[in-house]
Amino acid sequence: MPANPTNDLWESMSTMRAMRRLKPDPVPDELINKILQAGQWAPSGGNTQRWRFLVVKDPEVKKKVQVYYKRLFDESVGPRYATSPPPPGSDAARYKRQHAAVEYLTDHYHEAPVWIVACLEDGENPGRTTGSSIYGAVQNMCLATRALGLGTTLTTRHTGYGKEVDAIFGLPSGAHSYAILPIGWPMGNFGKLGRGPLKEVVYGDRWGQPFAGL
Ligand SMILES: Cc1cc2nc3c(=O)[nH]c(=O)nc-3n(C[C@H](O)[C@H](O)[C@H](O)COP(=O)(O)O)c2cc1C
Repeated sequence: MPANPTNDLWESMSTMRAMRRLKPDPVPDELINKILQAGQWAPSGGNTQRWRFLVVKDPEVKKKVQVYYKRLFDESVGPRYATSPPPPGSDAARYKRQHAAVEYLTDHYHEAPVWIVACLEDGENPGRTTGSSIYGAVQNMCLATRALGLGTTLTTRHTGYGKEVDAIFGLPSGAHSYAILPIGWPMGNFGKLGRGPLKEVVYGDRWGQPFAGL
């Protein structure tokens, strides 16, 4: 049975924590289909729809990619977490728990039963706005996953070894992977997100001026 599903969009958005601890239990294709459909409903620049979604269950493929994902943790992500301050809306203890969860996902990435890899046929020289035609689909899929009571995390770390990872997935030249969503039933609970005060990131009319509407 799905854990804590919801059809309330506001509930989904406000509780869609990065779920990094996932059970290895299978996820029915019927639910994966719903998530993929939510992705395809997203907008894309000029309605070009150059996205391609790779559903990966093959343990060998996932393991090969996890090796690069782990290498990037050891090379840069782990040291950065160990030395950087907590972000807005977090604190030292919470940030430490985030670090532990990130390390957990790193070690267990390939054990998530299903990955959806969001790719774009973006040509040889993707530009500054190219990702905007795939990340809407990615966010739609994250929200659909949450609505179904499944857990996921938007991950992009693998792009640090993008060439190598895209080769493992068998992508042709002119196509690139932009995100990997490891999907599974969550071990923990969905909960309130930690973000800083809205008024610290919203301006009115000119940068730095308060927005009176808040
Ligand atoms: C562009 C982007 C890339 C991300 N890449 C990773 C990643 O590779 N690995 C990971 O564990 N989390 C990744 N995350 C998840 C963020 O760390 C997470 O959204 C953030 O810590 C907030 O978590 P919360 O929503 O649970 O509060 C990524 C998020 C975004 C938006």
